[in-house]
Amino acid sequence: MKINVLLISRLERTLGALRRMIDNEEIVVLGESSGGTDALERIENLSPDIIIMSYGAGEDDVLSLTERITFSRPRSHVILLCEYLDVDLLQSALSVGAHNVIGYPKSSKEFCDYIKTVFHNESARIESLSGKQSLSWISKVITVFGAKGGLGKTTLAVNLAVKLAESRKKVALVDLNLQFGDANVFMDIDPVDTISELSQELSSPNIDLIRSYMTVHSSGVHVLCAPKSPEFAELVSPEKVQSILGQLRTYYDYVIIDTPPTFSDVTITALEISTMILFVTGLDISILKNSKQSLNILKSLQQIDKVKILVNRAVNIGAITLDDVQRLIDCPIWAKIPSDYRVAVTALNLGIPFVIGAPKAELSQAVTMVASLLLEGTQDITTLSPKQKKKLGLQGKGSRAQLSGKAQ
Ligand SMILES: Nc1ncnc2c1ncn2[C@@H]1O[C@H](COP(=O)(O)OP(=O)(O)OP(=O)(O)O)[C@@H](O)[C@H]1O
Ligand SMILES: [Mg+2]
Repeated sequence: MKINVLLISRLERTLGALRRMIDNEEIVVLGESSGGTDALERIENLSPDIIIMSYGAGEDDVLSLTERITFSRPRSHVILLCEYLDVDLLQSALSVGAHNVIGYPKSSKEFCDYIKTVFHNESARIESLSGKQSLSWISKVITVFGAKGGLGKTTLAVNLAVKLAESRKKVALVDLNLQFGDANVFMDIDPVDTISELSQELSSPNIDLIRSYMTVHSSGVHVLCAPKSPEFAELVSPEKVQSILGQLRTYYDYVIIDTPPTFSDVTITALEISTMILFVTGLDISILKNSKQSLNILKSLQQIDKVKILVNRAVNIGAITLDDVQRLIDCPIWAKIPSDYRVAVTALNLGIPFVIGAPKAELSQAVTMVASLLLEGTQDITTLSPKQKKKLGLQGKGSRAQLSGKAQ
């Protein structure tokens, strides 16, 4: 989804500078105006998502325009840019309902990230006022974990994060696969900074600092990418990860964590801080053997109560059925995702998560269903409607896996 922007400044050179700063394919500059009635007409005709206005001392016309927009066009969000940001200026801006007030940005990335964040936050606010949002606001930290490489952990973490963000939730995706993390590849992100640069900050990071190291994806998901090279993994200590995750959960509705298939100190830190562990498994005997051992470790770490079992690439061709899985790992199955190599690999190669690029595919529908379970805070699939169970592939005759109880 593109973000449509209108620029307003009485100075031609400021308009030119802002235009050059907006160098991002997700942001479209619809037009420019010098203010006054011309600005009103353009806002009326173009219906921009974001209106960026330069604002300085004594420019009361900017304030009255802001007031009009804020109260009459709540879906057009105003950003005020001030050369010198002092308390008086800020107070005047706040008094007319403007709350996105910043100094002139230092870089194009900083500016574009700010525009995207304002757009997503303001849209979420409007949505919540219309009562469409679920009332739950307590942050959820979901670690996607599995006992083997290639199970689909990153695929699920990325697509779930995108789907949750579509529901106007504030979502962070943290790639804790520190050596070979590739969530950025799945999202076609080329990060400037990653968790390893963030970890080198001496002080314990606050949320603003952490967010400055994250990359904003077009879906609205804020991504803290894995280090650019495996040797930087050791710069990231479990203590740093703990304080980063602790801060993230104060700001985001959902923190989704992708992991490597190992119980490293960093992974264990993430598992411990999580409110849910989405444990990915599959229909082959080697995966199931490792899954069983990992679940035993999670038991001894006293984390087993948070576990929800998700069977990925569930196909009805092998000798192993969902019943067998449940029996072998001695844990109920929470959800099942079908196998669709074409959709999954095309999405990966294009860098467009399949819930965006192929929303009608069965694979996307299944992930969408899991996301809606997370949004509803559904703890137990026995509370699902028959339609929901069908979508999750958990309905049919006589299978224990098809009607499992609590995942613990
Ligand atoms: N349901 C699915 N159907 C078909 N292919 C899938 C499915 N889920 C994932 N894949 C494919 O499997 C491959 C591995 O997926 P992914 O990278 O998400 O696994 P992973 O568990 O994160 O691996 P690693 O532990 O190495 O990080 C990718 O090519 C992905 O497109
Ligand atoms: Mg992965």
